[in-house]
Amino acid sequence: MSTATASEDLRNLVQSAEHSFARAATPAELEDAKAAFLGKAGRVTELMKGMAQLSVDEKKTRGAAIHQAKQAIEAQLAVHRQAMADAELARQLQAEALDVTLPGRQRGGGGLHPISLAWQRIEQIFGSMGFDVGDGPEIENDWYNFTALNNPPNHPARSMQDTFYVDMNDEEGHPYCLRTHTSPMQIRYATAHARKHAAALALGEMREIRVIVPGRTYRVDNDATHSPMFHQVEGLWLGEDVSFKDLKVTYLNFCKAFFETDDLVLRFRPSYFPFTEPSAEIDIQFQSGPLAGRWLEVSGSGQVHPQVVRNMGLDPERFIGFAFGSGIDRLAMLRYGVNDLRLFFDGDIRFLSQFK
Ligand code: PHE
Repeated sequence: MSTATASEDLRNLVQSAEHSFARAATPAELEDAKAAFLGKAGRVTELMKGMAQLSVDEKKTRGAAIHQAKQAIEAQLAVHRQAMADAELARQLQAEALDVTLPGRQRGGGGLHPISLAWQRIEQIFGSMGFDVGDGPEIENDWYNFTALNNPPNHPARSMQDTFYVDMNDEEGHPYCLRTHTSPMQIRYATAHARKHAAALALGEMREIRVIVPGRTYRVDNDATHSPMFHQVEGLWLGEDVSFKDLKVTYLNFCKAFFETDDLVLRFRPSYFPFTEPSAEIDIQFQSGPLAGRWLEVSGSGQVHPQVVRNMGLDPERFIGFAFGSGIDRLAMLRYGVNDLRLFFDGDIRFLSQFK
């Protein structure tokens, strides 16, 4: 084999490697091309093996020439690898490009739910009139919810308030139920308050109870004006000389403050509750504005029944007063002009964000 032919075939080899590398479209194809020339069974390796028959001198020159060709091929490979890595990086940068001039996503400001807003107003207004704010269990037993309120088992008035029963009794055998109104808190608060006075000398003799209890209540009801879960606020004012007149004044002042208008009147419509006697529904009528002229029922009320005062552990000859139970949702609907109760509980942000 002449030297000229030998270098000629090596030049061709280098050139054909260069072409293969250039044709490779992916790193994997490039590595395949590399294997075809530089791999164990590659063409350069084959050439090396082919030197076995050559003389020592021939081996020297041929070996050096093959080595040179191999280096040229490796250099070409390195150039293509680098080009491919550069292209990949450029592609990634392009794909992940950030436009730092775009406006940021804004975090919307939160707000209180309209029921919470109404609840807070109610606490503020009654607080300013000297009412304490109480809180009680939503899972109640039927003694507090009904019996202690002068509404014994099998009394037909129980059917006015069907509820959800919990399949469990308390230590005294009273079934648990979801409270149908906040009225059970009349008994709980009065007994706890009286006990506190009796135990603490500094508190002196108990002369009155004045409390509101806002909270969640439950009934088997579901339509545009009734939800199985709703909100009430109980009011209780007992003292030695608290009369229906005080109820009227207190409730009228509350309504004026709550609706921010003096332009409304109250009406007490005879009604029935087992735990008050006499009992009345309280209706309000706005004299101006979009609701003007309609009587709107907002509350049950009445003079606390002597048996209920007795169930509080108090002497009905001494303590007399009134209680009321108003729908917070109803008050919120009237105040914010909402015509469907269910809107409050759908959680639709378009509705709720109007109250921010
Ligand atoms: N608890 C009664 C109801 O939910 C309302 C009420 C409370 C009536 C207090 C009189 C006195 O219907």
